[in-house]
Amino acid sequence: MTVKVKSEKLKLWYGEKQALKGVSLDIYENKITAFIGPSGCGKSTYLRCLNRMNDLIDSVRIDGKVTLDGHDIYEDGVDEVAVRKKVGMVFQQPNPFPKSIYDNIAYAPLMHDMVKKGKECDELVENSLKDAGLWEEVKDKLQESGTALSGGQQQRLCIARTIAVKPDVILMDEPTSALDPISTQNIENLMTKLKEKFTIVVVTHNMQQAARIADYTAFFHMGDLIEYDETEKIFVNPKEEKTEQYITGKFG
Ligand SMILES: Nc1ncnc2c1ncn2[C@@H]1O[C@H](COP(=O)(O)OP(=O)(O)O)[C@@H](O)[C@H]1O
Ligand SMILES: [Mg+2]
Repeated sequence: MTVKVKSEKLKLWYGEKQALKGVSLDIYENKITAFIGPSGCGKSTYLRCLNRMNDLIDSVRIDGKVTLDGHDIYEDGVDEVAVRKKVGMVFQQPNPFPKSIYDNIAYAPLMHDMVKKGKECDELVENSLKDAGLWEEVKDKLQESGTALSGGQQQRLCIARTIAVKPDVILMDEPTSALDPISTQNIENLMTKLKEKFTIVVVTHNMQQAARIADYTAFFHMGDLIEYDETEKIFVNPKEEKTEQYITGKFG
């Protein structure tokens, strides 16, 4: 198994407040890794460290190391825009641009000069929508607004938009928590397909979801990584008492 992303003793402070206390974790290529743990334990903070999204917050200070394919993404001279292109992100609330379905997907690849306008771009839009399982539903209305779609469709549009710039890793922060059960199932099925092409890291407050889709699961508590293992081991036979207490609902 190939380690795609690795963190070593990663610490993060918001001003005086320490939110990550030294997290070391290997994320494997073409697997789904889930982060679970009670609200406020640092899951989103940690996820955002993996594509330098926390750099956008003034008060943040980071210590430790994160590597992508063995390269330190926080090293001097690393272009954080290039990092975010390789490590895409999907958020809890579907957030399509107030533009057409077509433009939602074409925007970034055109901006990055990845494709030319016209046929090449059309093909990328079609393939991205196909990979996101949305093509059949929208192929006859590509010029309609992305924001007019249902919540579940909007989230798949956001996934298509992320895929279109050909990232290696897709980070998802509670991608289904704003969706109904059917849309949630669609996204879960989609994630299982997408891991063939991408490495997927997903934060979820839904332990059943982690158990259904994740190959590996990491349990966080108060800024620490308590336990990390194959998903089945975490849910069937955890090593740490804290993990056991959490998965059995003793706190949350
Ligand atoms: N932008 C921010 N500024 C200050 N504190 C923050 C910020 N974002 C998160 N925190 C704090 O960091 C801790 C971890 O938050 P977060 O990573 O959002 O947890 P989770 O995603 O597990 O719910 C919490 O105490 C939260 O209040
Ligand atoms: Mg969060």
